[in-house]
Amino acid sequence: MSSNSIRTDFPILATEVRGKPLVYLDNAATTQKPQCVIDAISHYYETQNSNVHRAAHYLADLATTAVESSRDKLAEFINAPAREEVIFTRGTTESINLIAGCLDSHLQPGDQILISHAEHHANIVPWQMLAARTGAQLIACNLLDSGDLDLDDFAQKLGPTTKLVAIGHVSNALGTLNPVRDIVQMAKAEGNKDTLVLLDGAQAVGHLSVDVQDLGCDFYAFSGHKMFGPTGIGVVWGRKALLEAMPPWQGGGEMIRTVSITESTYNELPYKYEAGTPNMAGIVGLGAAVDYLNTLPRDELQAQEDKLIAWTLSQLQQVPGIRLVGEPRQRIGAISFVHNEGHPHDLGTLLDQQGIAVRTGHHCAMPLMDHLKLPGTVRASFCLYNQQDDAQRFIDALHKAVTFL
Ligand code: ALA
Repeated sequence: MSSNSIRTDFPILATEVRGKPLVYLDNAATTQKPQCVIDAISHYYETQNSNVHRAAHYLADLATTAVESSRDKLAEFINAPAREEVIFTRGTTESINLIAGCLDSHLQPGDQILISHAEHHANIVPWQMLAARTGAQLIACNLLDSGDLDLDDFAQKLGPTTKLVAIGHVSNALGTLNPVRDIVQMAKAEGNKDTLVLLDGAQAVGHLSVDVQDLGCDFYAFSGHKMFGPTGIGVVWGRKALLEAMPPWQGGGEMIRTVSITESTYNELPYKYEAGTPNMAGIVGLGAAVDYLNTLPRDELQAQEDKLIAWTLSQLQQVPGIRLVGEPRQRIGAISFVHNEGHPHDLGTLLDQQGIAVRTGHHCAMPLMDHLKLPGTVRASFCLYNQQDDAQRFIDALHKAVTFL
């Protein structure tokens, strides 16, 4: 199967931008949606919409079944040992905030939370807030010039006071595929058994098969909209025993078992962490995205995407004034670069004028930009529907753009 045949599944890819066919290379920000996901959302509203788990009528039953069947699909998608470990959230940001919001009793003054300098703000700020509440300290592992994590530094920073490690599976800004399985093993080595590990999978799930049991982590967070599903829906997976032991996060309907004016008891998993009416259409749409991905030869498509990225990298280096930012050992999806003289935003605008969609700026990774001593980069990010023609048009447009800088 080729990315060419897949493109027709995504109606928006036929868009023209100022008379030129769109080249969409902003997939790390959000992926486009196949028709089957768009249809699943409409179908939900046209035929199933009702509030879930709350009423004994026909539509409530349909909606509940649709939502819970999506949970089953998501559990299978990440090989979760149990469906009730799959908690629906608004996205990766909310997923990480949920976990960070429930771990106060896991930390005490003097404990450490270890992240890296390459993390997205969503995998930094919630930990800063947790550290401020508990007196713990947030520290960050250094990066090598390549953009890879400095694993020696990581090993050195791990210690008996490391109570939590939070690392991105794939860097959104540089495309670095982190050795997360090794990182989990290091974090949980002898003497560190109560170190919890959260992986931010936002940039991984649209590209790689994720198996949370194989990874060995405690929590895995991701968004629907970066894996061809709708916006406003995501997942946090957590080990059942941990989720059961942790306090609830938000209070409200559905997360309770009993409520009196003075106290409440809480619902079982996963509902304990799903206060309020969930994004039912989003959940159904995300289930449709999983169904869609399951029809594709994902490994084969990823291999094609990797080749396309390798070709693009080789061509980029021949564009006058362009410098790659980050040359990780293993790269997934994204390429970051700068021009010797031009500002990333100017380059982004010049590319947009030619129909090429890329992201420019700090990519919600300001500590990484500080480390790189850059105000920002231009990022071209690929996914399974990008093909040679996209890469060629991007390179041609870049050659033209730099002549204006
Ligand atoms: N986190 C998204 C990105 O990297 C928005 O662009």
